[in-house]
Parts: sequence; structure tokens; C-alpha cells
Amino acid sequence: MTPAGPQPGRRRVRVDVDPAAPQGTILAAEVDGVALALIRHAHGWTATDLDCPHARCSLARDGEVVDGSVLICNCHGSEFDLRTGAVLLDPADRPLRLRPVMPSADGTHLTIDL
Ligand code: FES
Repeated sequence: MTPAGPQPGRRRVRVDVDPAAPQGTILAAEVDGVALALIRHAHGWTATDLDCPHARCSLARDGEVVDGSVLICNCHGSEFDLRTGAVLLDPADRPLRLRPVMPSADGTHLTIDL
């Protein structure tokens, strides 16, 4: 099934991924001029800004997935829910900026609305 068009104001891009990437994989990707972190967790893939919303450490460098779908930024210990982007533990006071992600049926690529 082809996903519906992007939400108004968003650009739709396709990113190839390894369908065998294990949970906990965090990739840095520059996509159409946007720096993203692509994160594999217990509920699929999440695409978010590469920089942590607390103090802009790289989530590809300092992020770690625990408990299935919790992202810890090891710069200062903030925790986020990868399903919603919500802050679970401060010092971060802003959520992750999530980008809608639709994985392909065979898991080889993601369609992301930037
Ligand atoms: S930069 Fe991520 S917790 Fe501070």
C-alpha cells in the first residue's frame, strides 16, 4: 500500500535502511538538508532531529535505547519515549521532534515526512 501524501508543509523522503538492524540501532542521516537520528526500537523506527532537544548533543553519538523504546541521552541523562517523543526524565524540558515514519513492507526503507 502506498502511503497517502505528506502532511501540508512537509516534504516526503525515502531512506534505505538495513532490515536486519537490531533494536538499539541509532543512525545519523542527512536527508534533504535535515540532520536526523533514525532509531530502531521495540516498536519500529523513529525519526527525530539528530540533536538532543536539551543541549544539542548528537543522539547518534550519545543516545542509547533501553527498556524497548526509551532513549537516554548520555550527555546529561535526559530520557525520552521514542513512541511519542515525550520527556520521561529531565533535564530536558522539550520533547523530541518526531517526523512521521512509514516503513516499507520488506523493511528495506523508510518513508519520512520531514
Ligand atoms: S544534551 Fe541530551 S541530555 Fe543534555
